[in-house]
Amino acid sequence: MLTIALLIYIILLVSFQQISFASNTISISTTHSLKDGDTIVSSGGIFEMGFFSPTGSQNRYVGIWYKQMQPIPTVVWVANRDTPLTNTSSGVLKIINPGRLALVDGSNTSNIIWCTNTSRSVENPVAKLLDSGNLVVIDANDDNPESFMWQSFDHPTDTHLPGMKLGQNFATGLRITISAWKMENDPATGEYKGSLDNTGYPQIILRKGSKKTYRSGPWNGLQWIGLEKWGLYAEISVVINSSEVTTGCMGLNSSKLIRLVLTSSGIVQLHIGADETGKWNSFPAAPVDGCDKYGLCGAYGSCDNNKNPICGCVDKFSPRYPVAWESSDFSGGCVRRTPLKNCQNGSSSSSDGFKKYPGIKLPDTEFSTVNTSMNLQECRQVCLKNCSCMAYSSLDISNGENGCLLWFGDLIDITVLPQKGQDLYIRMAPSDSDYPSSSKGNKTKTKKLTTSVLVGILVLSLTLTLSIILYRRRRKEIHLKLEWEQEQTLFEISTIIRATHNFSLNNKIGEGGYGPVYKGVLDDGKEIAVKRLSKTSKQGLGEFKNEVNSIARLQHRNLVKLLGWCIQGDDKMLIYEYMPNKSLDSYIFDNRRSALLDWPKRFNIINGIARGLMYLHQDSRLKIIHRDLKTSNILLDIDMNPKISDFGLARSIELNEIGANTNRVAGTLGYMSPEYAGHGIFSIKSDVFSFGVLVLEIVSGKRNRGFSHHQDHYENLLGHAWKFYRDGRSIELVEDHLAEPQDLPQLLRSIQVGLLCVQHCPEDRPNMSSIVHMLTNDVQLPIPKEPGFFTEKRVIESNSSDKEKSCSINEVTISVLYPR
Ligand SMILES: *[C@@H]1O[C@H](CO)[C@@H](O)[C@H](O)[C@H]1NC(C)=O
Ligand SMILES: *[C@@H]1O[C@H](CO)[C@@H](O)[C@H](O)[C@H]1NC(C)=O
Ligand SMILES: *[C@@H]1O[C@H](CO)[C@@H](O)[C@H](O)[C@H]1NC(C)=O
Ligand SMILES: *[C@@H]1O[C@H](CO)[C@@H](O)[C@H](O)[C@H]1NC(C)=O
Repeated sequence: MLTIALLIYIILLVSFQQISFASNTISISTTHSLKDGDTIVSSGGIFEMGFFSPTGSQNRYVGIWYKQMQPIPTVVWVANRDTPLTNTSSGVLKIINPGRLALVDGSNTSNIIWCTNTSRSVENPVAKLLDSGNLVVIDANDDNPESFMWQSFDHPTDTHLPGMKLGQNFATGLRITISAWKMENDPATGEYKGSLDNTGYPQIILRKGSKKTYRSGPWNGLQWIGLEKWGLYAEISVVINSSEVTTGCMGLNSSKLIRLVLTSSGIVQLHIGADETGKWNSFPAAPVDGCDKYGLCGAYGSCDNNKNPICGCVDKFSPRYPVAWESSDFSGGCVRRTPLKNCQNGSSSSSDGFKKYPGIKLPDTEFSTVNTSMNLQECRQVCLKNCSCMAYSSLDISNGENGCLLWFGDLIDITVLPQKGQDLYIRMAPSDSDYPSSSKGNKTKTKKLTTSVLVGILVLSLTLTLSIILYRRRRKEIHLKLEWEQEQTLFEISTIIRATHNFSLNNKIGEGGYGPVYKGVLDDGKEIAVKRLSKTSKQGLGEFKNEVNSIARLQHRNLVKLLGWCIQGDDKMLIYEYMPNKSLDSYIFDNRRSALLDWPKRFNIINGIARGLMYLHQDSRLKIIHRDLKTSNILLDIDMNPKISDFGLARSIELNEIGANTNRVAGTLGYMSPEYAGHGIFSIKSDVFSFGVLVLEIVSGKRNRGFSHHQDHYENLLGHAWKFYRDGRSIELVEDHLAEPQDLPQLLRSIQVGLLCVQHCPEDRPNMSSIVHMLTNDVQLPIPKEPGFFTEKRVIESNSSDKEKSCSINEVTISVLYPR
């Protein structure tokens, strides 16, 4: 037995020797070249270099592989990856003057297939394979063994080995990246690239073409967040200074081999050589999970692998496009719930604050700057003073918190990592920011305290003085918000043209009763809606200004805010705040989207509209009748709060025309009260009627106009609702998905309030303040009478002759506020 084993051993030894003898070249020089079939072995016997063909391919390449890992070589580097030899066995690797390593055609040595580049010309150039796997060209007459004229480590293919660097040397201009093979058996340059990006603070980036697919966190002094596994098996080195930005690794245990490979499918695989039998332990290092997909959740989105869906918004932010978001399209990202106030660059008194988000894989640092000597307090101050600075964090957490990292522009690619993540401080409006008392030492604390007390006193006394002045001026209006005085703005036409791309069709978001509406983005990024009033309005300039001014003074959380106006010749425009969620009709009448509004949201919407209308009718200075209340005039903000739009316009824009032609009625069929549609008589009670229609539409998910029921199809929604109510079957009106048992009392109450609002006679209808009260309190409700416009047929009848069902017109006319 023993002799057999010995024999095998000797045979193995001899065959090994033979191989070595067959490829006895240890270097390539001006006198020795490497032919196909020969190999060069590194001094320690770890790596081997020669010609090879990938499995299933006829192409010949010059490459480097692990010598022990046979029979299938594990190739770590390929010289001529993009210029393979197609007719086998004809390649020769040789040194050509003045010290370049070249792969030439064996039959025609002047045909250079691939060659290295060098700026130096030396007498005795030699190419050697080092035990690290690095192929180097040196000057054999040079005593300095580190003085390479060229090295393959500067030009890696898809594999990163210990000793290699990734990054950039600013002195030489050399930029080292790795790029995947095109396919598993094709070493040609593939689509995926890995690099150490130093556009901002350095981070490791994978790209497919030019598109980022993966990003490590920035180096935090300890590790590349996301690539911890690499750090587990290798000692990571990072150099970040003015002459070089690089990273690399040294194997922790030299008896263990380690390599990182960027595969042709864009995954970085970490391979650990467990032993010398040719077996690798391999596992993916990045990207490994859903959140590793670059920018998956968009700007200010926050990815959490433990959540479903994995995308959310960072706290105090909401999805920019909620509908898309619900259907898992997170690319639109998130927007602030409270927009930042105008910030003045360089001013230390910016009212903005910061909110701390702990446990975060810091966002993309492409647009970032650093200062290694600042502490977190100084960092905060610097960020505060620059209005484009959106966040800051400490730079190095290896020894406390040191340095300062500042982000400019939107924050992208944030992942929640409770264990490994860092603290990120995001710029916030004062109401959303917190004030971590991280100031060290009592001195600063007391100083801060006194300052804030002083500021408090100042603000208080100022407010008081202001209040007194205002109180004297307008005793009755003291309850109104103080803001309005300064808010209305005259916009330059050039600003509006820029913001809306010259009213481009792409920016058009709707066609309201008074003209088209365009979305615009102001230079500071603020989104606006521009309503371009139809040119038929004959109102004069001064009159228009006065009207708009008074509309702008109406401020309520359930009214769309008018930001200003713009006049250019005949063109009059109103500038509103932009509502990302469009209007109510785009939800409740849409099969798919209606599911996004559950009953609590709908009830909140009903209440909001009621409050907004109550404000218009009785709380505001102007006492406005809307006259065109309908679902498409109810806009929804980020949190699905309703905002009434187009209020006040009936008076300022349409009324002149009505004055000339009493037959013309502003309003929308289906929402108009009988007395308004029939006689042009409008009052706050005609708004109440429209509100009732709205409520019934919100509950049923069906339009009043166009409503059809297969049994008696000429009845409208109101008639239908009333019949159900009369028969005690109101629940049948409710849209299916809303009928949760716990919501039923509120639903039935809302239906009854809706029916009270649409009663035929105006004097029977409650006013808005009673409606607000009835909706939210458990009070006994009156029994509604038959609604106006029971059927479409009767609309026509009541238009021509209303004798059959008359109400006291007197009472109506009393409440007409703007009779002409
Ligand atoms: C060789 O280097 C020079 C200067 O560094 C550069 O301009 C040239 O493109 C390089 N050639 C190759 C084949 O890399
Ligand atoms: C290196 O690896 C060997 C073999 O796996 C092991 O015995 C040794 O403890 C390791 N040394 C270090 C420093 O990890
Ligand atoms: C704010 O920071 C950006 C990015 O560093 C810089 O370009 C800009 O000049 C700064 N603004 C001010 C007012 O310092
Ligand atoms: C970093 O901050 C320190 C202290 O505020 C300052 O003196 C230094 O100039 C800053 N360095 C850079 C590069 O901005």
